[in-house]
This record gives sequence, structure tokens and C-alpha cells, in this order.
Amino acid sequence: MIIMNDWEKAYSNGFLVDTEKPSEVIKLAENFFPKSGNVLDIGCGNGRNTIYFAKKGCFVDAIDIVDLDFLKEIPKELLSLVNFKKISCLDYSFTSKYDIIIMARLIQYLTVDELDLLFKKATSSLKKKGYILLSYSATGKMVYEKYGVNKYNHPLSLILNFVNKYNLQVITLKEGNKVGVHLSYKEDAITYDIILQLL
Ligand SMILES: C[S@@+](CC[C@H](N)C(=O)[O-])C[C@H]1O[C@@H](n2cnc3c(N)ncnc32)[C@H](O)[C@@H]1O
Repeated sequence: MIIMNDWEKAYSNGFLVDTEKPSEVIKLAENFFPKSGNVLDIGCGNGRNTIYFAKKGCFVDAIDIVDLDFLKEIPKELLSLVNFKKISCLDYSFTSKYDIIIMARLIQYLTVDELDLLFKKATSSLKKKGYILLSYSATGKMVYEKYGVNKYNHPLSLILNFVNKYNLQVITLKEGNKVGVHLSYKEDAITYDIILQLL
């Protein structure tokens, strides 16, 4: 018998992630990326941001607790640049050093304690002056009822506490208001796109 985790169930029940364009936060940060480098995409989903950086010539470690098998869709020449692993970010070893760590629409699914652990591990694995590209939705009950995945509404102040605690600085912070394709409620959600840099 195959036992699915909550996220595998959510995807098999029709949970959708964007497939085409990279995340807004990546477009915001485009101007100051290194030409090449090492990237970690945490909660990569179907790999839209992973593919974006691989196309730029970066080496990308991509992790997610679901294997959406996106590697079979990507151009063959990019395969040597992408290393996907099915694992929770809470169990990942973070042994490499990265120029950029992506957390796109991930942190609203982690508890405060899990988030603290993630920031601790991620910042210890970031090169000096390296970036964390973070986007999340801070309001709304969203996916729980429809897909059975817990969603937490972390206030911006919590993220800013982690910024101080883990020696980061805010480079860009953009507040938005959007309704995602998979939202199961009608209100708009407050979203944040945040570029952080390790001091
Ligand atoms: C809303 S999707 C975002 C996917 C992708 N980052 C994007 O922006 O298109 C959230 C993803 O986080 C993954 N995820 C949730 N909890 C995780 C965890 N503890 N470790 C790794 N991935 C996780 C889910 O499986 C899902 O693919």
C-alpha cells in the first residue's frame, strides 16, 4: 500500500501551482543576482524557479516533500545543473553553501517553531552576502478545508524577528494583495515578496 503525505494528497486532489513564470520575488531580485552560483529551492513544487536559475547557468538543489517529476519535462542540457531530492526541509542536511536560497510560497505551511529551525539552517548554509528570496501569503485560511494542508498566518513582524535573530537584512519588501489559482475562499490575501541578505 502506498502511504501519501498530506502534500501528495493535496496534489492528487487537484492542488495547483504556477508552472510557467518564475515567482514575483525572483523578478524583483533579477538585477543583483550573480551570473552563476549555487541555489537551493526549498519547496520547489513543479520547479518553475529551479528551471529559471538552471537556465541562467546556476547549479540548483531543489527539494520538496512531493516528487512532481518535473525533471522529465526540462531540457536535457539543464539536467546536469539540477539536483532534486524528495525530503522535508526540516530533515534536509544543508551541508552546501548557497548564493541564493528560495522559499517561494512555502513558509505559510510551517509552524513558528519549524520556521525558526528553517531560518537557522538556511542562514548557516548561506554564503556571506547571499540572498533568501521569500514569498508568502500572510492572511486567509486557504487550503486547509479543500486540500487538508495546514496553513498558518504568520505576521510580517514574525519574519522581521527572524531577520534580526539570524543576522539578515531586508533588501526589498513588497506587500501585495492577490487571489491565487487554488484559493478556496473569496477574500484577497495579503502577500509578501521579500529579498533578504545575510550580513
Ligand atoms: C504552494 S507550493 C509552492 C511551490 C513552488 N515553490 C512555487 O512557488 O511554485 C508549496 C510547496 O511546498 C512543499 N512543502 C510543504 N512543506 C514542505 C516541507 N516541510 N519541506 C519541503 N517542501 C515542503 C509542498 O509539497 C509544495 O510543493
